[in-house]
Amino acid sequence: MTDKKRILVTCALPYANGPVHIGHLAGVYVPADIYVRYLRMRGRDVLYVCGSDEHGVPITIKAREQGCTPQDIVDRYHGIIKDSFSGLGINFDIYGRTSSSVHAEGASEFFSTLNDKGCFVTRESEQYYDPEAGQFLADRYIVGTCPRCGNENAYGDQCEKCGCTLSPEELINPRSKLSGATPVRKKTTHWYLPLQNYEQWLREWILEGHKEWRTNVYGQVKSWLDTGLQPRAVTRDLDWGVPVPVEGAEGKVLYVWFDAPIGYISNTRELLPQSWEKWWKSEDTGLVHFIGKDNIVFHCIVFPSMLKAYGGAYILPENVPANEFLNLEGDKISTSRGWAVWAHEYLNDFPGKEDVLRYVLTANAPQTADNDFSWKDFQTRNNSELVAVFGNFVNRAVVLTHKYFGGTVPACGALSDVDREVLDEIPAIRASLERNMENFRFREALRDAMGIARAGNKYISDTEPWKLAKTDLERTATVLNVSLQICADLAIAFEPFTPFAAERLRDMLGVGLYAGSDHRIGEQETVNTYRPGEGRALHSGQTFPEGVPVLRWEQLGDACILPEGHRIGEARLLFAKIEDDAVDAQISRLQKIRAEIEARKKAEARKNVPPQKDACTFDDFGKMDIRTATVLEAERVPKTDKLLKLTIDTGIDRRVIVSGIAEYYSPEDMVGRQICVLANLEPRVIRGIESRGMILMAKQGDGSMRFITTQETTDNGAQIG
Ligand code: 2FM
Ligand code: ZN
Repeated sequence: MTDKKRILVTCALPYANGPVHIGHLAGVYVPADIYVRYLRMRGRDVLYVCGSDEHGVPITIKAREQGCTPQDIVDRYHGIIKDSFSGLGINFDIYGRTSSSVHAEGASEFFSTLNDKGCFVTRESEQYYDPEAGQFLADRYIVGTCPRCGNENAYGDQCEKCGCTLSPEELINPRSKLSGATPVRKKTTHWYLPLQNYEQWLREWILEGHKEWRTNVYGQVKSWLDTGLQPRAVTRDLDWGVPVPVEGAEGKVLYVWFDAPIGYISNTRELLPQSWEKWWKSEDTGLVHFIGKDNIVFHCIVFPSMLKAYGGAYILPENVPANEFLNLEGDKISTSRGWAVWAHEYLNDFPGKEDVLRYVLTANAPQTADNDFSWKDFQTRNNSELVAVFGNFVNRAVVLTHKYFGGTVPACGALSDVDREVLDEIPAIRASLERNMENFRFREALRDAMGIARAGNKYISDTEPWKLAKTDLERTATVLNVSLQICADLAIAFEPFTPFAAERLRDMLGVGLYAGSDHRIGEQETVNTYRPGEGRALHSGQTFPEGVPVLRWEQLGDACILPEGHRIGEARLLFAKIEDDAVDAQISRLQKIRAEIEARKKAEARKNVPPQKDACTFDDFGKMDIRTATVLEAERVPKTDKLLKLTIDTGIDRRVIVSGIAEYYSPEDMVGRQICVLANLEPRVIRGIESRGMILMAKQGDGSMRFITTQETTDNGAQIG
């Protein structure tokens, strides 16, 4: 972990054009929240900054579709997103907005400084313009065919199918998203940041200086640098965004990816107008950006180059722990197709189960590779881990303490081997947990924390205090004392992961918790409110009622956290079982969405009917010998994905045809089928096999192939024509 005095944690600013979903949560916000809670418990001075990203073309497109203003859109989603975060216990010190006046000033000033210092180049170029709408077509206002993968709906800045970044000029058959018109080219001037000037410096700073960064982040940076950086346009012809602060630049705004990262700074300034610079311009601050993998280039190349260009002692990130993507039930999450689990809907459908989502998303975190969320796994993890292990252990310890010792921590007598074993296990787990936390391995850190619950559960099952109580109350006291100490360990270790359950557990144990720094109210006021998941939590500078033990991270693994005679609270349910109906309802909702997606895909494919070919003569047609045949044998051609070798009966002979249909049909599908063949096509040798003829196939709108079959079985060799 960074040994800096202060740690500034930022989370990618979500676009305020839709709610956040589990992919966002797993990739960025849950891991960041775990990290921040952990650091604070360790006594580190942390500032935790996020906010809505309220500019960019998708927001204006959504406003147009819905017949409202972009401001209406961002107002709506800013509120929804903000509530979702706090509903999940993700309590930033500030959750700002890039449509704020502080941000407009800050971003403008940043641009002007770079402009005055001569850090930009301006270029006049021809860009696509929609003559019907009277508007330049930036980024997502233009769609066309992706030159890399053939996706016909690639955007002017990115193809969502293959993930490549694009510029509008690269699109094949471009069309305006506004009117559908074919765009024309029109001259316009833009400001560019010549990223190539920073290449050498980036190499030294990241490739040589930060080999410890995650391999996915390091690898992506290396590949960008090895490909060679290009000047990047930082302005757009649009009427939504921060206006370009240059005379004569009317109708132009800063590119959303220029202004958004400055939003981290603006939001800090908004919260701490007097002292923001100590967070951004002091070598005593360690900056950590939590982002998803699609944001790596902006946080590791573009934004650092902007900060470097600005100068003025801005610090650079110490680490950028970007995650891969989370899929949902085996398919890529897609906002536009509605294939997602939305945070605000989850909170509505599963009240009181905020922690279950946090837990499952951490246990399945896409840290090193894409990972999958499924509702069945969600249910299993809740029922067989949170309920059956963690909850069950705590419940037994607390209930039995009430039953045999009137709710006070009983005396700890002489320790037996089994007691010592379990107590010794916890410091070792703590060491591993800390190492994992500090290296951004939250999935592994959670496994460590769960290891404490498993150890406790096994201990209480092995020692059976409910049986012991009949014969040996002194030994029962020791076992329950040890069990309660482990409960206190859990209240400490789980605070970063499941803060709501940790709070319930603190209630049950009658303790508080030291939760560290908190800058939420800024410089004007003192912190005087708790938010969800923070009951019995104490921030720096606050005091707790006398006599209430306050747990601290440093006590994790101590054998006597709770003193003998301490009065614990009533037993409460830590986690409740999730029944089949609850997850079945979610699964059927997704099934419905899947069916709608399929139907839309089919309808889309039907639209892709190719135009008629040039005329051919009757003679041309007459030359073709098309006839019916039956497949007798079929096998895959070795070392190919697409080819099948078919032996067919054409009525005139038995012959071999090699056909590129293996993607659509298996050999078993083909044997016995009656098909149509072009029998007199010149023989060709394919992969060493002579192929005599061609099977007639129909290419569908989505590019897949179906063979032409006869309506009624006919003899083989019947001529078609
Ligand atoms: O990808 C996104 O959702 C962007 N809105 C993230 C912006 S991060 C930052 F730079 F503001
Ligand atoms: Zn593509």
